[in-house]
Amino acid sequence: MNATVDAQRLQRELDTLATFSEHPAPAVTRVVFGDMDLRARAYLKSLFADASLVVHEDPVGNTFARWSGANPSLPAVATGSHCDAIPNAGRFDGTVGVLGGLEAIRALQRAGFSPQRSIDVIVFTSEEPTRFGIGCLGSRLLASALDPSAGEVLTSEARSLNQIRSSAGFSGPLADVPLHAGAYAAFVELHIEQGPILDRERTDIGVVTAIAAPASFRIFVEGEGGHAGAVLMPDRRDAFLAAAEIALSIERIARSSGSIDTVATTGVCELFPAAINSVPSRTRLDVDVRDIDQARRDAVLRDIEHACDTIAARRGVAVRTESINADPPAHCAPAIVDAIERACDARGLQHRRLISRGYHDSLFMSRIAPTGMIFIPCRDGISHRPEEYASPHAIAHGAEVLADTLAALAG
Ligand code: GLV
Ligand code: MN
Ligand code: MN
Repeated sequence: MNATVDAQRLQRELDTLATFSEHPAPAVTRVVFGDMDLRARAYLKSLFADASLVVHEDPVGNTFARWSGANPSLPAVATGSHCDAIPNAGRFDGTVGVLGGLEAIRALQRAGFSPQRSIDVIVFTSEEPTRFGIGCLGSRLLASALDPSAGEVLTSEARSLNQIRSSAGFSGPLADVPLHAGAYAAFVELHIEQGPILDRERTDIGVVTAIAAPASFRIFVEGEGGHAGAVLMPDRRDAFLAAAEIALSIERIARSSGSIDTVATTGVCELFPAAINSVPSRTRLDVDVRDIDQARRDAVLRDIEHACDTIAARRGVAVRTESINADPPAHCAPAIVDAIERACDARGLQHRRLISRGYHDSLFMSRIAPTGMIFIPCRDGISHRPEEYASPHAIAHGAEVLADTLAALAG
């Protein structure tokens, strides 16, 4: 079996997918259940149909495109990723795993391979937290890591997830989304590294062994507002300045964890009333903390709580934190790591093991199926920015390794 990827076609499809964007090129913004997301989904479904894959969608919009195996009663093998994109992002995050997964299947079809197990490409809903505040919405629900009541609890612009998904054409109870453990024999996700190691070392393929543990939370600071000219400086209880000190403490705490694997980001800061001549009375921060070591990450979370208390007392403001998620790290299945490495060796591609610092739908798929990830280099490790770039060559290598890995796992 010698599966050959059509690199040019894959590029054309990535280019077309990138045109479904809420911001002009080279930026890509595709918010889940927005018009562009729905158009991107329609495009992907047309490509799946062209490849004779049978498509079904679950109530949250996770999309499964199946190439039926000779023995469909066996648990299937799956690949896939996401097609939503954070504001002002690039064109490769997630999409390489979706279109690369499809091209891997087409390459196997062209090579005359006939799998025993069915092979699915999954497009996961809302890997990005942009709209509902929580990442990996679709895969979290699939893995029973999010209660179906999230349909009413999660909101965007005063509408519930249930209302929004139903307007987007996805109905049925969220309780029907979870898959049982064993539904898939294996899951393999192809993704750009989103970090500098492979590009710097000129290594073709990264074989992921573990995915870092992400946690995110909100910090609400309440102080006292007032007239920007009239409230004397010693009398102020400025909510934003307390929040600013908290954000700096978060940076200091993460930097002093003792490991380069600890990272913390304050990515959202909302002020109230947000007027140039008014002292901020309320501020909200959204914070993302990650580490490959869960105990060390949790120690950072505790230190942040402590810093919040100290700053609140000193500045006379009230601080409250609210957890959004605190997920454990995931470990890739050794058998899949081995299968990916064998595929690289057979094609003469250089590879190395690494951890994923970004999170992925694989974090949750690993709870219900043996899971692995294939990373390809992206230029200077840049991601979540319009400059994100992976070469056609690198993408084709990734899709070929994926094809061989899927063939080995599907039998
Ligand atoms: C996923 O996009 C992440 O933030 O790691
Ligand atoms: Mn992303
Ligand atoms: Mn991604």
